[in-house]
Amino acid sequence: SGPATVSPTGSPTGADQARMAQSGSHLTNAQGTRLHDTDHSLKAGPRGPVLLQDHHLREKIMHFDHERIPERVVHARGAGAHGVFQSYGTASAVTKAGFLAPDVETPVFVRFSTVVGSRGSADTVRDTRGFATKFYTSEGVFDLVGNNIPVFFIQDAIKFPDVVHAAKPHPDREIPQAQSAHDTFWDFVSLHTEATHHTLFFMGDRGIPRSYRMMEGFGVHTFRLVDAEGKTTLVKFHWKPKLGVHSLVWDEAQLINGNDPDFHRRDLADAIESGAYPQWELGIQTFPDTPDQTFEGIDLLDPTNIVPEELAPVQPIGLMTLNRNPSNFFAETEQVAFHVGHLVPGIDVTDDPLLAGRLFSYLDTQITRLGGPNFPQLPINRPHAPVNDMLRDGMHQTAVHRGVAPYQPNSLDGGCPFTAGADMGAYIETPVTVPEGRKVREAPESFSDHFSQPRRFWLSMSPVEREHIIGAYTFELGKCYEEAIRKRTLQVLANIDPELCSRVADGLGLPAPEPTVPLADVEPSPALSQVGGTWPVD
Ligand code: HEM
Repeated sequence: SGPATVSPTGSPTGADQARMAQSGSHLTNAQGTRLHDTDHSLKAGPRGPVLLQDHHLREKIMHFDHERIPERVVHARGAGAHGVFQSYGTASAVTKAGFLAPDVETPVFVRFSTVVGSRGSADTVRDTRGFATKFYTSEGVFDLVGNNIPVFFIQDAIKFPDVVHAAKPHPDREIPQAQSAHDTFWDFVSLHTEATHHTLFFMGDRGIPRSYRMMEGFGVHTFRLVDAEGKTTLVKFHWKPKLGVHSLVWDEAQLINGNDPDFHRRDLADAIESGAYPQWELGIQTFPDTPDQTFEGIDLLDPTNIVPEELAPVQPIGLMTLNRNPSNFFAETEQVAFHVGHLVPGIDVTDDPLLAGRLFSYLDTQITRLGGPNFPQLPINRPHAPVNDMLRDGMHQTAVHRGVAPYQPNSLDGGCPFTAGADMGAYIETPVTVPEGRKVREAPESFSDHFSQPRRFWLSMSPVEREHIIGAYTFELGKCYEEAIRKRTLQVLANIDPELCSRVADGLGLPAPEPTVPLADVEPSPALSQVGGTWPVD
């Protein structure tokens, strides 16, 4: 019997192409020619030399030699799952995005990850976790590429290579593999005090989640939603796990790393396989789109800020259920390509300078990681909307494009009514007014307060969470070789809270410094605590 997926004309048809890899009942080479032996090289006699003419051996070894692709430069280790997003329709008041209209179901693929460790590193290390979701909407792909911590280390993407270099293993010995316990990390975050808020979150329980199923997710940046009339609203996206937010304690995390380095990956796959489908509600905090883009004095373009949920409650807009494991890790979890610039009509970006850099970085890195510019054609990345672009050729092109005129307008291949605008359902960038000013390399004054929000976080923690944070700083800083870095970090802690600073200083056997800034007068936000807070999801 010949390969069933080849049409009478001899060319593979649509979906058949995807199955081509393993069709037919006989083992073949890559060209479909049947093999009679794949266990022995072709030799001049059973004990003689292997012959150069063994084209099967050469094909098999050549392909094997190229099985690995570069791992992601960050977020290399991850686990993925398929699912569905069911919209409640509550976001229709603020966005025209079709997949957020009432009762729309959209397929999704989610990849959870650690940030620093390499592809084979352990799961329960202290780290931020990625929470990236690809929505295959009927209007194109929308990616929400978030983390389990609502703020980021830096305010401007130009610092991203620096923070990652500081967090990654030392370049001479490639240690430590996947932990923050080293001098370059603490050197960076104590010199760049904008990192204080993220560092505090990450020394807290969110740095060692119990399970991917029990993590919140955050879009971090402020986004701009647009309704059918063009009215805009600023929003922050939140994922709230139905199972609640839970973490490990440090000793558990250490033991699990030894016993089962795949703990989170296994937990996700086992839960889905047994029908215990993890669920998250997607919610938004909404803010008026005012010219200064601030809310209650908080600069919404600063990704080191949160807006307390007590000031802007998270409003549920839909439910995501992960209900299917990938059938092939490489094809799906490894080859998936997320990008903050994958947007659909009704969702736009803001001028957050960290987001601006991300809008460049993801596509750029994927050209290297996925071998050329045609990775949107990989099955996991293909939109579930019709694609009619004018992108042509390039490495690993799999489409057979028709026509002779890949340009618009043209008079040869027929016109494409793409210029008519919003009424055609097109993506239109919101025509926001750009503030006037001089072209400068400097941060706005509103980005300069690095301690008020960390202090709010600290004041919002329950006693047990505070003990965990003190223990984490003491442990991690205890691994630093340079005393100057430990002392500088204690100064940062003094500017957050004297008790935090003195307890860590005691643990390190160092004197506790006095604050160098007045302690901020801020109210706690109970929603930040995993014990007292989180969302009322039934
Ligand atoms: C990967 C989140 C900032 C560059 C990722 C992934 C997530 C993520 C979740 C993993 C994607 C996956 O699973 O495939 C974030 C968040 C950020 C942030 C929430 C800040 C709020 C940045 C910045 C840059 C950057 C500022 C660069 C300027 C990258 C790169 C990858 C990546 C290059 C690897 C992507 C790939 O190979 O597919 N990020 N990131 N990220 N991120 Fe970010």
